[in-house]
Amino acid sequence: MEVSPQPVVPTEPTLIIQTNIVERLNFHLLFGAVRPVEVELGAGDGSFLIDYAARHPERNFLGVERLLGRLRKIDRKARRRRLDNVRALRLEAAYVVEWMIPHDSVDAIHIYFPDPWPKRRHWRRRLINLTFGAVAWRALRPGGILYLRTDHPGYFEQMLEVMGLCPSFCRTEEPPDLLEVTTDFERGFQAKGIPTLHAAFQRPLNAADWVAAPVEGYEHLYAPPFPELAVEEDIEPEGNALEESLVELPPDQPSYRNERDAADGTVTENSHPSPEKDATPSA
Ligand SMILES: C[S@@+](CC[C@H](N)C(=O)[O-])C[C@H]1O[C@@H](n2cnc3c(N)ncnc32)[C@H](O)[C@@H]1O
Repeated sequence: MEVSPQPVVPTEPTLIIQTNIVERLNFHLLFGAVRPVEVELGAGDGSFLIDYAARHPERNFLGVERLLGRLRKIDRKARRRRLDNVRALRLEAAYVVEWMIPHDSVDAIHIYFPDPWPKRRHWRRRLINLTFGAVAWRALRPGGILYLRTDHPGYFEQMLEVMGLCPSFCRTEEPPDLLEVTTDFERGFQAKGIPTLHAAFQRPLNAADWVAAPVEGYEHLYAPPFPELAVEEDIEPEGNALEESLVELPPDQPSYRNERDAADGTVTENSHPSPEKDATPSA
């Protein structure tokens, strides 16, 4: 199959990009203007992305989201506000960071209220794990910053643990104008008085190259090799075959993986408390 060598710049009227996924993005072609690039992973309905991009026309913003309904909202909002510095991409966040963002390229990665996977046996599916720490470091330019927010104290603890184990990140402060811009989920939590947590980690300007190596005793903080398969620590497999320790998730497992795009763009079965639908804190 012949693949086009570069990303296809969106034709009106959509900012949702169509690109081949076997090459890294060319931000210059994608945005048509050379500006610092920031990426939001799991951008949801784009509340943060659009407001922040409107405040910073001197930067380019790529929103990554896997649900098409939410991606379309980002697209509609950005076009309504005539923002030329926003693009949206429908793909798995971890794949984008590892395989599509050029090394040493982005000024910031924003990850706000990622699905918390509250059950212990699902923690390995959390986006922020040691595998991710290494690929995020590689995607950020020297001096670039990873920004994190969550409502889930257990996940926040894991974020701090993971980033503490990444030797080449330093904790840093968020600029006040960044914290002012809230996400859709954040507004929902705030409205219900649910506290939220935030942290930022910088790739230092002069850090030596860092190749992540497994840290003994922290195996649970690495991503599983295949997202659709989970090692079910709770289930004692019969026999010793590796295959038997990999259990396929039942299709009705209540989790964010069951979110589906309906034809009208609505989303169902999100175990993470949706601010508009669920008053129960996830912690
Ligand atoms: C809990 S919502 C938070 C949305 C938004 N950041 C906010 O704070 O309002 C998590 C979002 O991440 C998206 N998401 C979850 N896992 C993802 C993945 N692996 N790749 C891309 N998007 C993902 C979900 O579809 C959902 O929109």
